[in-house]
Amino acid sequence: MLVLCFAIAGGAFATVPPILLGKLVDLVLPLQMTEMIGWLVAAVFFAFLGKVIFESLQEFVQVKIGLDIITDMQLTAFRKLHRAPMSMFATTPRGDILFRLTHDVEAIQNLNSTVIPRFLQQFLGAIAAFVAVIAIYWPAAVVMLAVFVIYLGPSYLLGRKVRKLSEVQRNMLADLYAHMQESIESIRLVRTFVTEEREAETQSVKLNAWKKFAIYAALISKVNWRLGNLMQVASPGVVMLIGGMAVWQDEISIGTLVACIGFIPAMFLPIRSLAENALMIQQAIPALQRIFEYFHLPEEQAEGLPAVGTVKGELQMENIWFAYPGTEAQVLRGVSLHVQAGQHIGIVGASGGGKSTLIQLLLGLYTPEQGTVLVDGKDMNTHDRNSFRLQVGVVSQETFLLNSTLRHNLLYARPDASPEELDAAVKASGLGEFLDSLEEGYETIVGERGLKLSGGQRQRVALARAILRRPPVLIFDEATSSLDGETEERVQEALEQLMPGRTTITIAHRLVTVRDADEILVLDHGVVAERGTHEELLKLQGQYHRLYTAQYSELEKEGAV
Ligand SMILES: Nc1ncnc2c1ncn2[C@@H]1O[C@H](COP(=O)(O)OP(=O)(O)OP(=O)(O)O)[C@@H](O)[C@H]1O
Ligand SMILES: [Mg+2]
Repeated sequence: MLVLCFAIAGGAFATVPPILLGKLVDLVLPLQMTEMIGWLVAAVFFAFLGKVIFESLQEFVQVKIGLDIITDMQLTAFRKLHRAPMSMFATTPRGDILFRLTHDVEAIQNLNSTVIPRFLQQFLGAIAAFVAVIAIYWPAAVVMLAVFVIYLGPSYLLGRKVRKLSEVQRNMLADLYAHMQESIESIRLVRTFVTEEREAETQSVKLNAWKKFAIYAALISKVNWRLGNLMQVASPGVVMLIGGMAVWQDEISIGTLVACIGFIPAMFLPIRSLAENALMIQQAIPALQRIFEYFHLPEEQAEGLPAVGTVKGELQMENIWFAYPGTEAQVLRGVSLHVQAGQHIGIVGASGGGKSTLIQLLLGLYTPEQGTVLVDGKDMNTHDRNSFRLQVGVVSQETFLLNSTLRHNLLYARPDASPEELDAAVKASGLGEFLDSLEEGYETIVGERGLKLSGGQRQRVALARAILRRPPVLIFDEATSSLDGETEERVQEALEQLMPGRTTITIAHRLVTVRDADEILVLDHGVVAERGTHEELLKLQGQYHRLYTAQYSELEKEGAV
């Protein structure tokens, strides 16, 4: 509202100078009212001053509103993204996501903070000018309107074309960005396979395709702009023609004609600036669409579901069937699992059998196609999954490190842990020696920009995180696979101390790790092939037995050397 008031005031002030110019021609000059000239000049000056002040105020308020909107938009999209189903991240290149959150937002911001405020001024200025022309000599207004309407047709068509091009261009740009990001992120892969040239080639093909579109779009928007210019030049001619005739017949004064012509630039200004900024505007429209898509992302789970409360640790998965979204292959086919609170379950089986997938389903990162996941008898479809996740300590096959200090990375699991708890967790996870070797200790930057950790060190960070959390449910997915035999044994001991009273699921390739489990599941191609304790499974003389003897004989061989 404030914006509109300021803009209208600015527009009203803008109509003053041409009217005064008309007066100058009609009254002051013929009658040689020299003393009036000074007053006129002063009036024009104040009119301009008024215009500038109000328009600046309007622009300022509008820029602020624009920035508020933009930051809100970005935050909403960011939040939405964090609530989106995991499948979205498997199918969307990260570069595309980032592009939306940065460059698309920026495109809208450019529009928001420069084009729109100015356009509003110019648009209101044009209306004020039009009203003024109607008031002083309406036929001139009709002529101007006619010229405007003639221009509108082709301009609209050209604008539409530019928009379509911009849309394609925007997607191309996002794709380019995604490739760039992926290529740089996988620099190690690129270097080891010497594919630098191939990467550059891909980039060049994408760039060139984009460039073609960009040139074409720029060309069309220039044509549009020239057309606007042409009209601006043509209309004074037409106005002069009919106005001149009217002056001839003494219908209007010369001053009126001069004033009418004086209004022409103001009337064409919004059209010209639209044409001039067409590219920016047409780029912002697809950008806006792309952001809006994120506002309507599906959510992993509805908000406001009841929490599971303090988890005791009974976990149940009933007849789970699952295929990753967008794929055909059934990764899990009728898997059931029942863990009593405090029990230890081992899951073993060939690579690709679906072990990690089962854990993801348990955590609710994906929803099974069929079957239910129950925690303490509560269905996870109707309970807040986050409330369960908060009570699970997971050490997964990959450990993610933040680009921050070791302390921050460890405390990510539980920011309020005391220094003693932190030390204890570090010791239990076998990180102690490594920590002592660091000059800056906990404050060493690890992750992206800092000291790189080895696979085993990363795993121990993950372990320490899980320990810090002191959760009722522990999940280890190959938690000790990157450790050397000796460290693994030590860490395993620490883990075993952690287990009593906690429900634990251990996924392991090395069967010794799960030998003492209350129950062991052999997962094979998405089906539970065998289940039972270590002894029972050995007696079965089936898959487990085969796996065990293979590993055992290898151990023996190693021992013999
Ligand atoms: N995000 C995904 N999208 C599509 N398919 C997937 C995805 N993740 C895993 N898969 C497929 O699901 C199957 C099971 O994978 P999963 O990671 O559960 O195996 P796993 O038993 O943990 O194997 P490993 O012992 O090697 O860790 C594999 O065939 C894999 O190709
Ligand atoms: Mg796995």
